[in-house]
Amino acid sequence: MAKVKVSRKAHFNAAHRLYHKDWSDEKNAAIFGKCSNPNYHGHNYELIVSVAGEIDPETGFVMDMKVLKDLIKLEVEEALDHKNLNVEVAEFKIINPTAENIAVYIFNKLRPHIVAANELEVTLYETPRNFVTYKG
Ligand code: NI
Repeated sequence: MAKVKVSRKAHFNAAHRLYHKDWSDEKNAAIFGKCSNPNYHGHNYELIVSVAGEIDPETGFVMDMKVLKDLIKLEVEEALDHKNLNVEVAEFKIINPTAENIAVYIFNKLRPHIVAANELEVTLYETPRNFVTYKG
């Protein structure tokens, strides 16, 4: 059977601040730049969620895209959209809300809902030119 990758785009806005609590303000500013602004700042995150696997011979789908759309809305958009990630999302009270860590967070929320034999891939754009990918 043919293995095909299907993808769904989504979007959310969120605020964050990158910093390490044990570092001075100067070191945080040197490492994280504008993303370390103590008063937070926002990003327009663009998300691409892909599922790769065999085509189901009955439906002709790898995965029903409506199911994927609803899953992203429930697990990602409702958790992150218009949130201050450092303050309102439990995981990011402990770990830095970098694009890398947000991509892993999204992957971990979606993975239990994707057929185990299929591969899940999350690509997250923090800016139009900066993006990260995590898959498994
Ligand atoms: Ni930032």
